[in-house]
Amino acid sequence: MKSIARSVRALKGVRPVVCLTAYDAPTARMAAEGGADLILVGDSLGNVVLGLPDTVGVTLDIMLHHTAAVSRTTPDRLVVADLPFGVAHESFGRLLDACRRLLQEGGAQAVKIEGGASLAKSVAKLVDAGIPIMGHVGLLPQRSRSKGLRKQGVTLSERASILMDARAIEAAGAFAMVVECVDASFMPEITAAVGIPTIGIGSGRGCDGQILVIHDLLGLTPAPPPFARPEARLHRDAVAAIRRWAAKVRRSSP
Ligand code: KIV
Repeated sequence: MKSIARSVRALKGVRPVVCLTAYDAPTARMAAEGGADLILVGDSLGNVVLGLPDTVGVTLDIMLHHTAAVSRTTPDRLVVADLPFGVAHESFGRLLDACRRLLQEGGAQAVKIEGGASLAKSVAKLVDAGIPIMGHVGLLPQRSRSKGLRKQGVTLSERASILMDARAIEAAGAFAMVVECVDASFMPEITAAVGIPTIGIGSGRGCDGQILVIHDLLGLTPAPPPFARPEARLHRDAVAAIRRWAAKVRRSSP
């Protein structure tokens, strides 16, 4: 059986990798039919669909529930599940068990882990155990409560540390990595420094691929981030459709 993670990795230098988040069957179907190479069940589902303030409240059980819905709907796609807050810093046994469950119970093909050089040893052991891993460097939303949310790679020392993280995650065996909110002028240097695809979000064009939160792309988010230019206005269109139907119901009342 051909590994889908390996085929995404092989796209580096061939063509840009198209990635989208999805959290349930309808969004998974839209992402797959729209042509996404990789579907991420991101823990952004906490703030995007569960009404949480950030990703910290997203648990493994929540991730399993949503990952299973997405992978049941798009069995032919590379479905990647986010490892939730805190789990990468537990014992290796618990980390392995969480990844195992995301693959076996959630049906994911791979797991994404936020963090850089300090997690490289764990990533190498997970890859050795047969779990395809996608890295995530630059801005790490799971650390928003301790570090805030701001552009990364602005100072020279930040750039050196992001490069170190990216190289360590590649050396540990990850098949690709998300690079979030890194200064666009620095992004090409990261992409050139690693042999696996860099998947940017809010990091400009110097990446091997792009990822967006599907609700931002489709105009379902009330205030999308400035880099996510919506290609549709589904919230506005849905409200208009509901109002039309509500008016018809009111007119037809006895
Ligand atoms: O959780 C998520 O959706 C993510 C992407 C924004 C990269 O990590």
